[in-house]
Amino acid sequence: MPSIDSVKVAVRVRPFSQREKDAGSQCVISVNANSTSICDPKNPGHVKTFTFDLAYWSHSGFLKDEDGRLVSTGSDSRYAGQREIFCDLGQGVLDSAWQGYNATLLAYGQTGSGKSYSMIGCGADRGIIPIMCEELFKAIQNQEQNKQYQVTFSMLEIYNEQVIDLLSKTKKRGGLKVREDHQQGFYVDGLKQVPCDSYAQIERLMEQGTKIRTTASTSMNVTSSRSHMVITIQFKQIFLDEEITKQSVINLVDLAGSERQKSSGSEGDRLREGTHVNLSLTMLGNVISALAEMAVGKKVLHIPYRDSVLTKLLQSALGGNSKTIMIAAISPADMCYEETLSTLRYAERTKKIKNKAVINASPTEKLIRELKAENNKLLSRLAGLTNSGKAVAAETKELQCLLAENERHTQTIQVTWESQLEEARKEWEQQYAAITQERRMMETFPYLLNINEDPQLSGVLKHFIQDGASDVGQSTSNAIVLKGLGIMDKQATFTNTDGKVAITPWDKSTVIVNGVPVTVKTKLQHLDRIILGSNSAYLYIGPPAERTNEDLLRYDYDFFQSELAAADGFSVDKLGAVSNKDGKPDPSVLAVFHDYIKLMPLVAEASQMSEELKKDLKFELKVKNLASSDSRGYDLQKEIIVKVMHKITKQVWVWSKAKFINRKFLMEELYQHFLDGEDVHVEQDSDPFWDPVEVIHLGSAHIWLQSLAYCMKLEEQTELLNFEGQEEAIVLINVVPCSSDGRAFEEDDMVIDPLELLGRQIDFQIHIVQCLGVRWLRDDPDRGIQIGYRFYDLPRSVYTKPVWKNVNPKIEERTRFSAFTVSHDFLNYLQKNALIVDLWGLQEGCTELDCSLQGCSVTSEGTIIVDSPKDLNAYDVSLDAPNQMSKLYMKLLKLEQETELLRDINRALREENIFLKEQLKKWDTGHHENKNMKPPHKWTIKMTKPPLSSEGTDQLCRHRTSYDSEFAKALKVEDNLQMLRLFTERQSCMLKDFGEQLESSICKLKNDVALIVKKKRESIAYSKH
Ligand SMILES: Nc1ncnc2c1ncn2[C@@H]1O[C@H](COP(=O)(O)OP(=O)(O)OP(=O)(O)O)[C@@H](O)[C@H]1O
Ligand SMILES: [Mg+2]
Repeated sequence: MPSIDSVKVAVRVRPFSQREKDAGSQCVISVNANSTSICDPKNPGHVKTFTFDLAYWSHSGFLKDEDGRLVSTGSDSRYAGQREIFCDLGQGVLDSAWQGYNATLLAYGQTGSGKSYSMIGCGADRGIIPIMCEELFKAIQNQEQNKQYQVTFSMLEIYNEQVIDLLSKTKKRGGLKVREDHQQGFYVDGLKQVPCDSYAQIERLMEQGTKIRTTASTSMNVTSSRSHMVITIQFKQIFLDEEITKQSVINLVDLAGSERQKSSGSEGDRLREGTHVNLSLTMLGNVISALAEMAVGKKVLHIPYRDSVLTKLLQSALGGNSKTIMIAAISPADMCYEETLSTLRYAERTKKIKNKAVINASPTEKLIRELKAENNKLLSRLAGLTNSGKAVAAETKELQCLLAENERHTQTIQVTWESQLEEARKEWEQQYAAITQERRMMETFPYLLNINEDPQLSGVLKHFIQDGASDVGQSTSNAIVLKGLGIMDKQATFTNTDGKVAITPWDKSTVIVNGVPVTVKTKLQHLDRIILGSNSAYLYIGPPAERTNEDLLRYDYDFFQSELAAADGFSVDKLGAVSNKDGKPDPSVLAVFHDYIKLMPLVAEASQMSEELKKDLKFELKVKNLASSDSRGYDLQKEIIVKVMHKITKQVWVWSKAKFINRKFLMEELYQHFLDGEDVHVEQDSDPFWDPVEVIHLGSAHIWLQSLAYCMKLEEQTELLNFEGQEEAIVLINVVPCSSDGRAFEEDDMVIDPLELLGRQIDFQIHIVQCLGVRWLRDDPDRGIQIGYRFYDLPRSVYTKPVWKNVNPKIEERTRFSAFTVSHDFLNYLQKNALIVDLWGLQEGCTELDCSLQGCSVTSEGTIIVDSPKDLNAYDVSLDAPNQMSKLYMKLLKLEQETELLRDINRALREENIFLKEQLKKWDTGHHENKNMKPPHKWTIKMTKPPLSSEGTDQLCRHRTSYDSEFAKALKVEDNLQMLRLFTERQSCMLKDFGEQLESSICKLKNDVALIVKKKRESIAYSKH
């Protein structure tokens, strides 16, 4: 009878990572019994709760014990450590295996969420797999004698749909094949299955597998977080008396990071569907969804197990003959909210899946008899096909496969376990000797220790620097053979003279020591950081005499990259991290810094791949300051972009971070084919290195429009700055107010108060005169430029005509504008905003920017109409922005009005206060001039607008009306200085209140502007695609 169980799901919340701590992250997860709640950081009232079989809090309440293990701080701590996780989950898997059920344990979650930590562990904190293997052998030793136990171990990796045997030193091109067997289901053909009879053997095998994984990851230049690792333990119990065999297959799966397509970077790219890297994970999601639907009674015709390697291998685990557990590993940080929510939803679907596990028990001899009988049947069918002459090639092939498979099966059963074990033991002894030898060498020689992005793969490889000279490089003739991107046949030479080690790079090879590229012989010190080629990182461990007790874990991958960035002049300080109140750097700047550090090696790798594949592209990381596009000049945010340049044609592209990451995976795929010696020619359309030539945004200038509000001419000569703050060119631009017939205004036409313009018509001309010293053209004289700007409520930007091949292009373009009935908002815009003038770079083959005025309201004389009453709506529609945008815009206008009024009140109060203080001083010094005292000029504020809508401001305004009389009262009593003082103090308080209110209003306004700019950009991007 099958046991019908749902997949068991457990959630585990890890501690904050360093990055999350640096960024001042908040914890958005709470765990209560077996329910897990997640709170939306943008909407704290919005909490979603999920209930799973188990939920583990490993986020806080722990300390490190003397063995380096994380343990609970005491009885009041809810911390769940590795042992607790094993006891619930690992022990459950073992129990199932003892009963003869197949069992599967899957770890799912985003990159860095703690999957490998739970499955494999870290240092002394061993994870479920090692503990489980140890417990299995402990239990075997305690069993009775009339049973035989057979344990085999295999370890594989699936990367980009290729299966790599992690226990085999020889790599099969294209990976191992997954085949199907009518009894066994899908299996990996040729996968090494090593018989083991002790935990020590398994420990060594895992070490060996991790080494192979690390070597593959560095030489193939792929990140391990994109690959799945599957450890399979076949556990057989042969009951000698009853001649019965119980067998269980235990699959332990550490899945690839589950980043959704969005954040893994494929959005908005021409080649977004191209990569296979995540295919297995996507298909796993499809299988889980289909099974979950089936479990709730929906009709599902097909479960797509066959669509990927991983789903084939997990067929029995999901919906089949297996007891299955999934660990959903999650980060507690607010910055991971979306990913964590997605993981929890995934887990929720998974828990619905129903499995039908059976005890795999069969009489040993019977199994062999059955296989033989079936083989006979197959043989006669095969003969029939050939004799009748109707042999269909495909069917014959299939039957032959089945036959071979059955033969293989029969043989496996018949070859005695003991002889297999003996063979494995010999191999194991050889390896053990090698490991012992390695340990001895570690005690004698200095060596290089590999540092990998994945902490699991760091410190796994050791390369010893023996006495004398040792060459290092890709060629097998070197004393130290290192494969990796950008590593040459001969990269460098290490010299070890009496324990003094130095490195000498070979010509043109990249060797970086402690972040600094070296070209000559350089002495090494214990714990120096060495990068060879584009990104192979090693920690130098000096000879034993030099070694200290320092914690090596400090020198992780991020340490190497930060050091590299710092040596390059890039640091958090340089990014302009303004310390906030608690003295910590601004979290958003820190996030940009971390992005930079993460992308730095990827960019170096992309450049190297481009070189080897002869694509002639150079990739460079840049930090873009978004403030340059904010019309108020506020420092909004920074983001990372990648500048791509063709080394020969000098064409330039600008890629977003997301686009670069997507392309990088596609480049890796192509590069892999190249390494395998395959043809790497791809059509332009699917080439990850190719993109159509585009117009490049070079820089912008802010032209403040305030003078227009006073009908004053503005003649500007200003720098166009790029996003790094460097000058790209100088632009000469005039903004000239004029009459409706085009006559430029003279000084007499100026207005004293902009409010005079309210309701009137205003005409003006924007005259772009010239650009001077355009850097874009200094770099390549065949290029061209266009200038664009967007004024107030225009639905589109106005572009000048292109000018090519001129470093100081004369533009001489005049555009007339007219606002028929000047509105308050328009006046506000003129007074507080700048016109953002953008410089665009044209390059050969790109499409020039459309300089027509299509979409704008233009009079028959060619004057563009702005500030027309219906324009607010038109503005929204033209942007195709959601309703929310217009609401935000209205809110902003209202806030602007409120702020303006508050400013006026504040100004008046300030004057009033100064006046009062002066009076007080005069009294104090005996110069009492009561009779001449007059209230200041702006004593009473004219309320041209109704009082502010907020209650607080209403109150303030009501107070104001009684000031005059109160003040007069105070002055009447000449000697009552006290009263006047009191009055002044009250006024000061009031002023402070106003100030605060004004501040908060401005702050609110700033946020709204930031939001609007963001929305605008989103909708522009949206309308472009
Ligand atoms: N429960 C935990 N307690 C302490 N540290 C943890 C815990 N879970 C994860 N970590 C730490 O967080 C980091 C990332 O964890 P891990 O390598 O397991 O992530 P992962 O999910 O396997 O990521 P990837 O998908 O990239 O392989 C590691 O340094 C690990 O030691
Ligand atoms: Mg991992």
